[in-house]
Amino acid sequence: MTDPLPMEAAAGPPPGCPAHATAVRLSGLEYQQTPSQLYRSLRRDHGPVAPVLLDNDVPAWLVLGYNEVSYVTGHDELFARDSRRWTQWDNIPPDWPLMPYVGYQPSVLFVEGAEHQRRAGVISQALDAVDQMELSAMCRAIGHSLITSFAGSGHADLMTAYAHPLPMRAIVQLCGMPPGGVDTEDLVRDLRLSLDANEGEDPVAAYGRVQARIEQLVKEKRAAPGNDVTSRMLLDPAGLTDEAAVQDIITVIAAAQQPTANWIGNSLRLLLTDDRFATTVAGGKLSVGQALNEVLWLDTPTQNFIGRWAVRDTQLGGRHIKAGDCLVMSFAAANTDPQMWPEGHVGAENSAHLSFSNGEHRCTFPGPQLGDVIARTAVETLLEALPDVVLAVEADALRWRPSIWMRGLLDLPVSFSPVLG
Ligand code: HEM
Repeated sequence: MTDPLPMEAAAGPPPGCPAHATAVRLSGLEYQQTPSQLYRSLRRDHGPVAPVLLDNDVPAWLVLGYNEVSYVTGHDELFARDSRRWTQWDNIPPDWPLMPYVGYQPSVLFVEGAEHQRRAGVISQALDAVDQMELSAMCRAIGHSLITSFAGSGHADLMTAYAHPLPMRAIVQLCGMPPGGVDTEDLVRDLRLSLDANEGEDPVAAYGRVQARIEQLVKEKRAAPGNDVTSRMLLDPAGLTDEAAVQDIITVIAAAQQPTANWIGNSLRLLLTDDRFATTVAGGKLSVGQALNEVLWLDTPTQNFIGRWAVRDTQLGGRHIKAGDCLVMSFAAANTDPQMWPEGHVGAENSAHLSFSNGEHRCTFPGPQLGDVIARTAVETLLEALPDVVLAVEADALRWRPSIWMRGLLDLPVSFSPVLG
């Protein structure tokens, strides 16, 4: 891969703006296969905070340093989540590709201060009541039903047939949708479309149907609460309105689905391509748990996240950040920061990575633990059910998604001895 081409931005932006001097275009598919090289060259040329250009050459800062990402996420009084303070809105068309991630909505993602604490607290207590043993048993059952649908053929694409649908089914069931119902299947399909549409599919229409179904779920659970995340959120003494509950349930489902699916896929890839790992759970080599942890250090699903917006003028990593500037958190670059790993040994057995972020807006407790139960159970169930599973293509033929945001495979073709009946 060639180094990203620094480009001289058009004359005009004031000094201190990330578009000034040399900024690097982040869009472009050439970096997707080996983003670690992009981070290395950005760090070398720009230090821990790099000026970058997003789609349509909208300027932003990419925060690459471990200490700098920790600082930004840990200081929400300086770097906050409400994107309405962005000074670039005049340069952003309504159909901007990143609009779904930066367009303000009054959900837990964008609210700040006491309102954020209230909303995150409601989600946290609702998730904390999930029995992790029951969740594991549920994921095992979902895993077996998915495997049954392709086991007889001897081959599968594990991304579409397994890694994506498993966490989606688990999370909608946790939210109180009945397992296997037609309605649940429709919701799973629409969520997939709205989060990850293929060419020719209509994500906006799918999102409309998701919203309508979650509104109905909220009505149903108000009338007849059950032992599920939605009911617990509605019964919380914080007193969420129906609108706020709908926003936050959709956020929980989306926040759980994409990273957990790619955590499963990236871990299966590692287990199937790296000799250090056993391909059977019983094997004497490195374990599934070690693969899951290594992925969080080296191939973390949420590799870059947009973002935080500066509340006032400040300094960061030697840069002058102006009030209203956008900062993109590069969790992937921070995890592999040579300042943290001077001997090039990245991927400790500890969990000091930033893959679940940090500070007030970090992945809501116990999201990381539930994600771990889902991912671990998914990987173990597959390896137990298909003990001779192998990659059906050469390892270097695997294709990563063309996204600077989510690190995950487009497909993971495997073959195995067909399992009959
Ligand atoms: C059951 C699984 C999960 C649930 C329920 C969940 C839930 C959430 C929620 C509600 C948020 C919004 C937090 C806020 O803005 O206050 C969030 C943010 C986030 N989650 Fe998770 N999550 C799950 C799994 C994961 C996994 C597997 C990863 C990565 C490996 C991940 C990484 C993140 C990151 C990076 C953020 C952004 C935090 C920020 O703004 O700094 N999550 N998650």
